[in-house]
Amino acid sequence: MPDFTPRVFSGIQPSGGLTLGNYLGAMKRFVQMQDEASHETIYCMVDLHAITVWQDPARLHAATRELCAGFIACGIDPEKSILFNQSRVPEHAQLGWLFSCVARMGWMQRMTQWKDKAGKNAQNASLGLFAYPALMAADILIYHATHVPVGEDQKQHLELTRDIAVKFNNDFGVDFFPITESVIEGAATRVMSLRDGSRKMSKSDPSDMSRINMTDDTDTIAAKIRKARTDPEPLPSDLKGLDERPEARNLVNIYAALADVSAEQVIADHAGQQFSTFKPSLADLAVAKLSPISAEMARLTADPAEIDRLLARGAQRARAVAEPVLKQAYEIVGMVGA
Ligand code: TYM
Repeated sequence: MPDFTPRVFSGIQPSGGLTLGNYLGAMKRFVQMQDEASHETIYCMVDLHAITVWQDPARLHAATRELCAGFIACGIDPEKSILFNQSRVPEHAQLGWLFSCVARMGWMQRMTQWKDKAGKNAQNASLGLFAYPALMAADILIYHATHVPVGEDQKQHLELTRDIAVKFNNDFGVDFFPITESVIEGAATRVMSLRDGSRKMSKSDPSDMSRINMTDDTDTIAAKIRKARTDPEPLPSDLKGLDERPEARNLVNIYAALADVSAEQVIADHAGQQFSTFKPSLADLAVAKLSPISAEMARLTADPAEIDRLLARGAQRARAVAEPVLKQAYEIVGMVGA
């Protein structure tokens, strides 16, 4: 394998508001990786992915700008990182097509997210939803990205990205695409619903009480934590004691990720506490960490012209990296005029 420049890529769908799951599972890590400076960082609002299920056009437009504000409010610096929306860089879709011809139907059919999202009505799901992981592989590999920070739910898609890179390299006898590593780290790589400890916190859950939105105000955050489902037992004295208690485990993980400490540390500090005591501490912590972000998001969202300027500039920088990679991929595949 040739040496690839260390480069980080990740994306978030503008298919609804940012949730605490996105923040703790992905965004916090994006910011850390940006600030480590040992690699370039490229972050994307993946609007082409969002439309694999129906999106109201006006809402999608607004949600993309709001997500851009969310990235910046959480600490992404559009000078340090390349920050842009996917549809502005056509090379994603172009490489996505090549990968649709590399990936196999069977690989796609095994994707648990496809099975969950298409459900029993697969015949009526969009072709885009089925092909989604090939576009995701293109998002990453069009930049020759070496590291991809994500939450746990994206692990299988990243394994498929590696499979696509390996098959492309083998099929054409090249060492062209890197074998990307996923970065799934931290205390909250899978934040669960506040209403049901067996489901992940998601922007598409019909119940707003199941999630904390990054735009929620102080009272809403506190109320959602107060009403979060738990069990009647106090917090145990070690982590093992949370094994069969998914709701309790979730709140401990959220606390740990917000406080930047380990789950062990949270248990050591709060062992024996009832939820009537622990929940208010968690609510105070969440409000302290999240309200500056939501205030900054509101401030930035109020200036859409500035957001559009930043996104246009980000797309220009992204294209400068993507264009030559697509050209070489086309040459490898045998396209005339590439
Ligand atoms: P999306 O938009 O669903 O989520 C964005 C990021 O947030 C993480 N995440 C969570 N982490 C922990 N707990 C949760 N409850 C939770 N919910 C979401 C996700 O793991 C993700 O890291 N397919 C991707 C978007 C994408 C992408 C890419 C990611 C498209 N192309 C290329 C990386 C690289 C998705 O739907 O993420």
